[in-house]
Amino acid sequence: MYYRFCWGCHGFRGDGNGENGPYLNILPRNFVAATFKCRSTPTGTLPTDEDLFDSVGRGFTNSNMPAWISLTKQQRADMVAFIKTFSPRWKTDKSGDPINVPAEPAVTLDSIKHGKELFTKLECWKCHGQEGRGDGPSASTLTDSNDQPIRPYNFAAGSRFKCGTTNHDLYKIFMTGLDGTPMPSFADVIKPEDAWDLVHYLRTLQVTHKSPELALWMTTKEGAEIVKAQKIVGTPTGADIEQ
Ligand code: HEC
Ligand code: HEC
Repeated sequence: MYYRFCWGCHGFRGDGNGENGPYLNILPRNFVAATFKCRSTPTGTLPTDEDLFDSVGRGFTNSNMPAWISLTKQQRADMVAFIKTFSPRWKTDKSGDPINVPAEPAVTLDSIKHGKELFTKLECWKCHGQEGRGDGPSASTLTDSNDQPIRPYNFAAGSRFKCGTTNHDLYKIFMTGLDGTPMPSFADVIKPEDAWDLVHYLRTLQVTHKSPELALWMTTKEGAEIVKAQKIVGTPTGADIEQ
């Protein structure tokens, strides 16, 4: 099955050098190197089988990795077992232990505001931009482990992440990092209780996605003004601008 569906991108030997590779903005994953973006496990460690299974079914937004929902669960699980045979790492290393994600506290304005402070203090804005549009001062200088330019995520563009869609997924993204990219793990600098505040704030940057966080933020004068300004930048046709 790999040689039917995957090798055109990921390569005959799983090294990411499939014939379609050169045409893609982000190169297909090199399974020999076995460095993976979407993990429930700490940075630098191998993902769990479940992480890989979820990635194959989800597909990667903002890249050419399709969602393989047309394959059965068994087929996806078989595919995960197969891609692990490409790298000797799976013989010497075990999957990392999934990080502990505490229960999500209620969404409050204090939580959102504290998350906003963390976004500034931890310098997420240097890459992602003050408004989370992926246009911070460092954005144009970033490259991934294949020496390809890579854009920081633009929160204003949608609701999906490469590594999931839920608040739980969002928590894991910055606490484990996207290995092989400049997006680091913040597990050593963010306390678990603070991490949820950051999650709540990041949702308010997704101005085109309805969420409880955005709705609450919009009830404040500060939040409503910021979101309004962000929406104007995001509508080049001017359709949303009040005149
Ligand atoms: C059209 C090209 C294409 C095809 C076909 C394709 N992939 Fe991918 N795949 C990619 C690209 C590009 C990436 C890297 C995406 C990124 O980093 O944003 C990727 C990434 C991955 C990852 C990495 C997940 C992670 O967390 O880093 C896995 C696993 C994967 N593909 C499995 C598969 C399997 C299994 C198949 C066949 C069923 C397949 N891919 C078919 C292009 C493709
Ligand atoms: C050195 C630059 C840099 C810094 C600092 C940075 N990021 Fe990122 N971030 C990136 C890049 C690059 C990507 C895109 C990776 C990709 O597409 O594979 C990204 C992606 C993301 C994503 C989307 C991941 C996905 O699954 O699609 C989230 C969420 C995110 N960053 C949150 C944060 C938060 C929160 C902070 C601060 C605590 C932060 N980032 C700091 C560079 C950075």
